Amino acid sequence: MRRPLIAGNWKMNGTKAEAADLLNGIKAGVAGMQKVDVAVCPPFPYLYIAAELLADTAIGWGSQDVSQEAGGAFTGQVSAAMLKDFGCRYAIIGHSERRQLNGETDALIARKYAQAVRSGIVPILCVGETLEERESGKTEEVVARHIDAVLDAEGVEAYGQGIVAYEPVWAIGTGVTATPEQAQDVHAFLRQRVAAKSKDIADGLRILYGGSMKPGNAAELIAQADIDGGLIGGASLKAADFVAICQAGEDNA
Ligand code: PGA
Repeated sequence: MRRPLIAGNWKMNGTKAEAADLLNGIKAGVAGMQKVDVAVCPPFPYLYIAAELLADTAIGWGSQDVSQEAGGAFTGQVSAAMLKDFGCRYAIIGHSERRQLNGETDALIARKYAQAVRSGIVPILCVGETLEERESGKTEEVVARHIDAVLDAEGVEAYGQGIVAYEPVWAIGTGVTATPEQAQDVHAFLRQRVAAKSKDIADGLRILYGGSMKPGNAAELIAQADIDGGLIGGASLKAADFVAICQAGEDNA
């Protein structure tokens, strides 16, 4: 049985004080939950606040990116080993905003994934199609390409140490959510893709849904057979909303 994970992707939002408030709110709100894994991914400069405030909790924290390099002359980059060094558990990899705005390619993303795994950080690999791709019937082709980038470069074992997030680009920050059926179809497709190489690894792989997940739609999404939690953007910036989504994970576990 896969444990649900609810992870917050804060993106480039907040101040030091807001980060602390949000973390304290989440900490209080999820304190009694036993069956759901909870994680937050604040911006790099605020990770130390998560490290401090969450030290005595089961809440994990992660970065929103990681370098594809192990270390050295790479100005502005942060290595997986550095993150691991101070307690980071997860790293979001290949978010569509980075694919689109920072020109990240599948090959680069596969290297980032590998660096995370090598350092003991759990990568959360984002995959998903644009609206144009969906409307032209290319959803499966696109998400297969995203998932295969890691499969081909690192082998199926890499999915034994990571998490996948299906995030249709048209649902991110738009208020438009994939229907539970639309999401389930893609999640099942992704799992089958991995199962073709290893059924055991596919059965254990957590596949999160992301894209305008909120308290009002979380439960029915998470209830789908192949949806194992959520990667939450906008709604992760309000403690009450994020906690309500965690509760949906807890109730469905
Ligand atoms: P959203 O973002 O929940 O604001 O749609 C999700 C994400 O980009 O991870």
